[in-house]
Amino acid sequence: MSVIYVDGGRPLRGEIGLQGSKNTVLPMLAASILNKGSLRLNHCPKIADVDSMLALLEQMGCLVKRDGDSIEIDASSLDSVQVAPEYGKRMRSSLFLLGPMLGRMKRAVAVYPGGCVIGERPIDIHLAAFRRMQVEIEENAEFLSLSTAGLKGNRIILGFPSVGATENVVMAAVLAEGTTCIYNAAREPEIIELCLLLKAMGADISGEGSGCLRIRGVKRLHDAEYTVKGDRIVAGTYLAAALATQGEILLETDCLFHMEGILRALERAGARLFIGKDHVRLISRGRAGRVRRLVTEPYPGFPTDMQSQMMAVLAGARGVSVIEERIFESRFRICEELRRMGAIIETDGPRARICGVSELSGARMEAKELRGGAALIIAALMAEGESAIEGVGYIERGYEDICGVLSSLGARIKKEEC
Ligand code: UD1
Repeated sequence: MSVIYVDGGRPLRGEIGLQGSKNTVLPMLAASILNKGSLRLNHCPKIADVDSMLALLEQMGCLVKRDGDSIEIDASSLDSVQVAPEYGKRMRSSLFLLGPMLGRMKRAVAVYPGGCVIGERPIDIHLAAFRRMQVEIEENAEFLSLSTAGLKGNRIILGFPSVGATENVVMAAVLAEGTTCIYNAAREPEIIELCLLLKAMGADISGEGSGCLRIRGVKRLHDAEYTVKGDRIVAGTYLAAALATQGEILLETDCLFHMEGILRALERAGARLFIGKDHVRLISRGRAGRVRRLVTEPYPGFPTDMQSQMMAVLAGARGVSVIEERIFESRFRICEELRRMGAIIETDGPRARICGVSELSGARMEAKELRGGAALIIAALMAEGESAIEGVGYIERGYEDICGVLSSLGARIKKEEC
């Protein structure tokens, strides 16, 4: 078991680059199987979720080569219609393979996908959309079996702008017969990036970034190379850590344009931001301030994936803040861990009321999911004394060498195997 130890109370200072985006690269890796050839992705993050997705692709018969932060997948020898259960159970992103498998092989067998426990996370929107494309679905308590005589384009209205369902339907539609129109599609930047990649592979897509996507099916895709953009949530996490510790950092990034919701929340909490073409400098003078009401929303609103990190910042801010979580119903699991450090937080359904305290104190805590884990590190960096954070595996699903990055900014943080 690994534990992260943090000796808190030091402002973060310095300059850092930014890893590639987890939520961009995972559907792109799944999309690789749509082409009976190869796809090269550059600037891929070295994180556990990418390792799991690559292992899954290898089990399905793909050849995977890694070269620094580039990954090349040759899917010409793909020969399995089954998502290996050991990966499917622990990775919600295994769900992304269903659309491409239906497009390429007309069949997909999978366990119900697992992943971070942040709510119910049903897959009804994905399945309803597949049914509209002439997919037969058999389900039992554990397994899903999907098959089609041939995917057919259709008009699909999503009941909610689900990120994963939008991506899955786009990937299914690129090789379907006819045209698919997705209404109420999610508008997250990761979807735009996926569409741009698919277009580079020969797909015919328009409307990316709007709530209405139009995909005209093509006969086949071709080889392509693409560079993954920086991770806007990881960027937001390091900026939040700098604000929480009253520090000053410069972050180089190519995804600032997609960070409006996050940057605005940081400014509301007192951060001074200086934004350049490819970097942002955050300066924090004194304790963060309260945010009267911070609500998570689909893009371009404030993202649910930054909610826990902002809660950690606000736990040490001046005054009372309220966070309202509107996307996932179980995303306040860090509250009990933060309380161990002296935080004063009450929750009532989707609302959390945070009375900022002037000093948090180090404690032993357990990460129970990815972003909540990162938030515990932020709280530990702010606190006086030493903290120990278990559940490191969750954090490593999405953050590349988080201890190394924070150490380079002057934090006293280390990972130890126990
Ligand atoms: C993706 C992101 C995740 C982010 C989330 C919301 C990836 C790998 N993960 O997750 O980091 O937090 O978007 O921005 O990109 N829902 C249903 N039925 C469905 C699908 C979703 O009810 O079939 C609900 C979910 O339970 C949730 C909401 O819709 O309440 C949003 O989920 P969705 O946008 O699908 O998130 P994910 O794609 O799982």
